[in-house]
Amino acid sequence: MKYEELKPWIQEIAELCQPQIVHICDGSKKEYEDLCALMVKKGTLIPLNAAKRSQSYLCRSDPHDVARVEDRTFICSKNSEDAGPTNQWREPLEMKQTLRTLFKGSMQGRTLYVIPFSMGPLGSKISHLGVQITDSPYVVCNMRLMTRMGKQVEELLPTQEFVPCLHSVGMPLKDSLKDVPWPCSKDKYIVHFPESREIWSFGSGYGGNALLGKKCYALRIASVMARDEGWLAEHMLILGITNPQGEKKYLAAAFPSACGKTNLAMMKPTLPGWKIETVGDDIAWMKFGEDGQLYAINPEAGFFGVASGTAMQSNPNAMLTIDRQVIFTNVALTDEGDVWWEGMTETPPQHLVNWLGHEWTPQSKEKAAHPNSRFTVAAKQCPVIDSKWEDPKGVPISAILFGGRRSHTIPLICEAFNWQHGTFLGASISSETTAASTGEVGKLRHDPFAMLPFCGYHMGDYFNHWLKMGLKKGVKLPKIFYANWFRKGDKGDYLWPGFGENCRVLKWIFERTSGKGQAIRTPIGYLPTEESIDTQGLVLKPQVMEKLLQVDREAWQKEIQEIRHYFTRFGNKLPQAIQEEWQQLKDRFNG
Ligand code: GTP
Ligand code: SPV
Ligand code: MN
Repeated sequence: MKYEELKPWIQEIAELCQPQIVHICDGSKKEYEDLCALMVKKGTLIPLNAAKRSQSYLCRSDPHDVARVEDRTFICSKNSEDAGPTNQWREPLEMKQTLRTLFKGSMQGRTLYVIPFSMGPLGSKISHLGVQITDSPYVVCNMRLMTRMGKQVEELLPTQEFVPCLHSVGMPLKDSLKDVPWPCSKDKYIVHFPESREIWSFGSGYGGNALLGKKCYALRIASVMARDEGWLAEHMLILGITNPQGEKKYLAAAFPSACGKTNLAMMKPTLPGWKIETVGDDIAWMKFGEDGQLYAINPEAGFFGVASGTAMQSNPNAMLTIDRQVIFTNVALTDEGDVWWEGMTETPPQHLVNWLGHEWTPQSKEKAAHPNSRFTVAAKQCPVIDSKWEDPKGVPISAILFGGRRSHTIPLICEAFNWQHGTFLGASISSETTAASTGEVGKLRHDPFAMLPFCGYHMGDYFNHWLKMGLKKGVKLPKIFYANWFRKGDKGDYLWPGFGENCRVLKWIFERTSGKGQAIRTPIGYLPTEESIDTQGLVLKPQVMEKLLQVDREAWQKEIQEIRHYFTRFGNKLPQAIQEEWQQLKDRFNG
C-alpha cells in the first residue's frame, strides 16, 4: 500500500469496525507505560514485584488462546494452485466478504490503535515497513518490544510502500457487557493475501496470530516478496561465532517452532575461548550483496521466546535478558510476585498461582506454566547481543543450518555435498510437533525448511526459489548443514547434552567453512569423524558419539520412502533437481 492510501484505509477500517477512539501510536515510553497501566486496571496485566523483576508484567491469556492456530490460517492467493498443498486456500474476495462481516462493529467500545512499524533496522535496504491496526493494547505493547515502531517509522512511510495489517480480538464491548481481561473470539481467522500484500487477523490475541509483523508479515508475506525479488525470508536464528584466535563468522539456522532457535542463538559455549553472539532468534531476511556474500538481518527488535524450560543452566543469557522490562504470558506467579515455569529451577516453589489463575503446589495435576508460555523482551537487553545486530547492511552468512526434533535416524550433524543437496536436506526435514501450535504434540510431521506453517506460497515453488538462489552468478554460497540435538537412546533419554554443548558441533561447522575439520563421505552427506567433534571435558557414556553419528541403513530405507511419499504431494511443482537428489540418495545407499 502507498502512503496516500494510509489515511483513507484507516478511515475505512474505522467505519467498518466502529471503535470508540482512534489512537495513532507514537512508540514512546510514556505511551507504553500508559497502556500497561490501563491493562493493569483491566486485569490483563499483573505487575511483578519490582525488587525481583523491575517494570515487568504477567499476562494470563484466555486458556483457549495460547498458541498459533494453523487450522485457522489461510493463504488467499487468486489461484488455489499458488497456495499449494501445504496451505489452506480460500478465494480472496469470498474470504474478504466473510471477514468484513466479522470485522463489522468488532471494535465497538474499544480503541483502534494504529501502529506504524519497521521490520528491520530503519534505513536498511533489506528492511520493510508495515502499519498494523489493532484493538488490543497487549498487541501494541508487544509490538513496541518486538519491532521498531511509532513516530520515526511514521516519518518514513511517505518514502516506501507498507504492508497493511488489520487485527481485532473480535469481541466488541457492548454497553451491557463487562470487559474481560483477555478478549478473544471462538471464531479465529489468520488470513494472508499474498498478491495484494495484506494481512487480516481476527479473534486471537496470541503472539503468532496477533503480532502481525512476525510470522504473518516477516514470513508468510515476506516469503512471497522474497520469491518475486530474489531474496530469502526464513524461519532462522542468526548468530555470530568467534574462535579462540578471534576469527569471526556468522551462521543462520532453521529449526521448527520450539526446537531450539532461541537457545542456540544465545548459547553460552562450554568450549574455552569460543564466543557466541546473538543477531536474531527467529527470523532472518537475507540478500546477496554486491560482493556476492549473503547478508542477513534480523527483522525483529525483540524476542518472543518460549519460557518453559528456560533456566540459568540451559540458557543463562536468556535468563539475564529477561531479568527486567518483560511481558510474560501464561507463566506461573510466585508468592513473592515473581514468575516461575517448569524447568526454571530444580525444585519448584511450594506454592504458586498457575497460568490458569489456580492455586498450585508441586502435587497439582495442572501445569504451573503453559508449555507454550512466552516472554516478550527487547533484544538489546541480551548480554550477548552482537555488535552488528542492527547493522543496516546485515551480517555475512558463512553457513546455514537446518534441523528438526528427531528421536531416531537423523545424526547429530551432517554437511550437504553442495547447495542443491542442501536444498534437498531442507526440503526433507521432519520434526515432532510442539506446543507452539494448537494440536497434538510429539507427532512426527514433515516441516520443510521449518517453514511448513509459514510459507506464503506453493512449497514446490519455494524449493525452486532456493535452487535458483544457488544458481546466481558470482555469489559465495554458504555451506549447508543439518543438525539434530534430539536423538534418543533406547531408554528414551536424549543422547546429546545439547544447549551450551552444541558449540562443539558449531566448532566443526566453523572449521568446515574454513576448509578444515575432518569428514567422511556417507550416503546422506559429509559426517564428522568421531575425533573431529571436540569432546574434551565432556563426559559421554560409551559409544554415545558413535550412536549420534550413526547412519542406520534400515531406518534410512524407511526415511527415503517416506520422503518420496511426501514429495508426491507437490506433483509437477516438485523441482526436477529435488527429484534427482532423492534418486541419488537412494542410489548411494544401494550402490
Ligand atoms: P520458537 O520461538 O517457537 O520458534 O522456538 P525456538 O526454536 O526458538 O525454540 P527454543 O530455543 O525456545 O527451545 C524450545 C524448547 O527446546 C525448550 O524447551 C528447550 O529447552 C528445548 N531445547 C532447546 N535446545 C535444546 C537442545 O540443544 N537439546 C534439548 N534436548 N532441548 C533443547
Ligand atoms: C513460533 O511458533 O515459531 C514462534 C512463536 O516463534 S509465534 O510468534 O507465536 O509464532
Ligand atoms: Mn518461531
